[in-house]
Amino acid sequence: MTRLMIIGCGGVASVAIHKVCQNDEAFGELMIASRTVSKCDKLKKELEGKTKVKITTAAVNADNVEELTALIRSYQPDAVLNLALPYQDLSIMDACLAAGVDYIDTANYEPEDTDDPEWRKIYEKRCKEAGFSAYFDYSWQWAYQDRFKKAGLTALLGTGFDPGVTSVFAAYAKKHYFDTIDTIDILDCNGGDHGYAFATNFNPEINLREVSAPGSYMENGKWVEVPAMSIKREYNFDGVGPKDMYLLHHEEIEALGKHMPEVKRIRFFMTFGQSYLDHMRCLEDVGMLSTTPIHYEGKEIVPIQFLKALLPDPATLGPRTKGKTNIGCIFTGKKDGKERKIYIYNVCDHEECYKEVGSQAISYTTGVPAMIGALMVTSGLWKKPGVYTTDEFDPDPYMEALNRWGLPWKVDENPTLVD
Ligand SMILES: NC(=O)c1ccc[n+]([C@@H]2O[C@H](COP(=O)([O-])OP(=O)(O)OC[C@H]3O[C@@H](n4cnc5c(N)ncnc54)[C@H](OP(=O)(O)O)[C@@H]3O)[C@@H](O)[C@H]2O)c1
Repeated sequence: MTRLMIIGCGGVASVAIHKVCQNDEAFGELMIASRTVSKCDKLKKELEGKTKVKITTAAVNADNVEELTALIRSYQPDAVLNLALPYQDLSIMDACLAAGVDYIDTANYEPEDTDDPEWRKIYEKRCKEAGFSAYFDYSWQWAYQDRFKKAGLTALLGTGFDPGVTSVFAAYAKKHYFDTIDTIDILDCNGGDHGYAFATNFNPEINLREVSAPGSYMENGKWVEVPAMSIKREYNFDGVGPKDMYLLHHEEIEALGKHMPEVKRIRFFMTFGQSYLDHMRCLEDVGMLSTTPIHYEGKEIVPIQFLKALLPDPATLGPRTKGKTNIGCIFTGKKDGKERKIYIYNVCDHEECYKEVGSQAISYTTGVPAMIGALMVTSGLWKKPGVYTTDEFDPDPYMEALNRWGLPWKVDENPTLVD
């Protein structure tokens, strides 16, 4: 029986933990280890008696490699699923290497302190050479390739919905529908309403950093960067209706661009309501999205972290959120010499998610694929030494698991394209 360690006990982790507990045919034992152990204990109490999975909890600071390595060695899991923050990716990978355990996460590395001069030097060089300026990129984790290969360990990166499922959709389209894919448009629509004027659906710091960054897309193997929110389209989403969406930089573009170099253009769009955009612009204008510490009444505070403390905790949005999400990818290309287009997507209902696991659909659509990624690696179906993203494996078992574990997908063979 598989023994899994999950690090973090926030919105996404809570769903993944519920799903691991539902899947007690595959998972026998689970350790929930996080910074605030009381959250782990609370969840353990809620789930015990409803699952055969034996749950233990521990307090850990995942920034501390030695402390984490000791915990992994003492528990001896088959894999570690990192559902803390992208800031912890590298320290958790280091601990997995030291303890000899497979590694899985949902978001690529970015530093907590973007003013760190050492990181900044490397970042500025990358901006110039690669042509995009987001704080997060795969180079830091791809640099672990040889170490994971040598150790015979698997690192599966980015198994949330986007990235994660969207890249599995790309591998599935390539395997079953196309000889060549020409374009990929990834569309992330949240038609949910939580009733607040402004709140983020997952960790506010990570979310606001992502959406306030310049947008970018890949064309003919090169990045094209544009000002934040400057490319807008309207799309009519199944299950949701018409919504405005904006082009964003997103991490799967980097992995798909590398692994599917024949694709001529890869873009990512996310829907935002006017209220969200107005609030974000105002917060940015007054400096509240800054990651640079300031001194206030004798104390050092980081504006975006202070803002996080003021905003609703994403984990509390569940009971208030109504409506649906629709996330998927539109592919164009050729099959047997003929032009073809398809749209693979999932529609998820916020209220249904809340009924099932006590979370809204954004955490649900990330937590379910996190459990599935852990299942793929620990079952051996997706085990190969090295560091990989989800487009680099056979998509079929993952696609089957999505249907089984709550994220069924549809294929539309005549979708409306985005211009
Ligand atoms: N791929 C996708 O589709 C997708 C979508 C959404 C989110 N994500 C990713 O999912 C991850 C989790 O997001 P979330 O919204 O669940 O965040 P969250 O609610 O803020 O939860 C983060 C958890 O990590 C814990 N943590 C933070 N720093 C830690 C440390 N140094 N040591 C140990 N534990 C630590 C936190 O502990 P405390 O309880 O003490 O704060 C919290 O329990 C993020 O990496 C996010 O980028 C991916």
